[in-house]
Amino acid sequence: MSLFIAGTAVAQEVNIQDGKDLFRTYCWQCHGFEATGDGPMAEMLAIRTPNLTTLALENAGVFPIDRVAEKIDGRSRLLAHGGEMPIFGAVFETDQLFALALPNGQTMMVGLPLANLLAFLESVQVD
Ligand code: HEC
Repeated sequence: MSLFIAGTAVAQEVNIQDGKDLFRTYCWQCHGFEATGDGPMAEMLAIRTPNLTTLALENAGVFPIDRVAEKIDGRSRLLAHGGEMPIFGAVFETDQLFALALPNGQTMMVGLPLANLLAFLESVQVD
């Protein structure tokens, strides 16, 4: 099952490889090359860096795509943030929007780079 539905006026396909490249540019230093939470910078942080491959497992088998998207672009920074996780909103700014299908049946518009990153993260979820 895919969480992604075809886009908007600009129809786009998500690209997991592009998402992986983004992850291995901006995120691996803390979250680890395989997203398991053990990057070289993790131990320097005051709070534990989460393993991003168990997000679905910890959420009754459902990849919490809206929470993850909000976390990455900084929209939910006031919740449980601790200030350790950088705000990446600007990195993902683009005119190319993508409609994500959320587990609750609603859709959420995000930029294509963020959609690619989410597709990558969804692809590394363990059972
Ligand atoms: C400087 C280290 C650092 C970098 C770089 C970083 N993170 Fe994080 N991230 C954290 C820490 C620490 C937390 C847990 C505390 C918090 O929520 O702020 C976290 C939390 C998260 C969460 C929330 C997990 C949950 O349980 O809801 C997601 C999703 C996430 N990061 C994704 C990313 C992605 C994607 C990138 C790259 C675009 C990234 N992070 C870059 C340190 C980092």
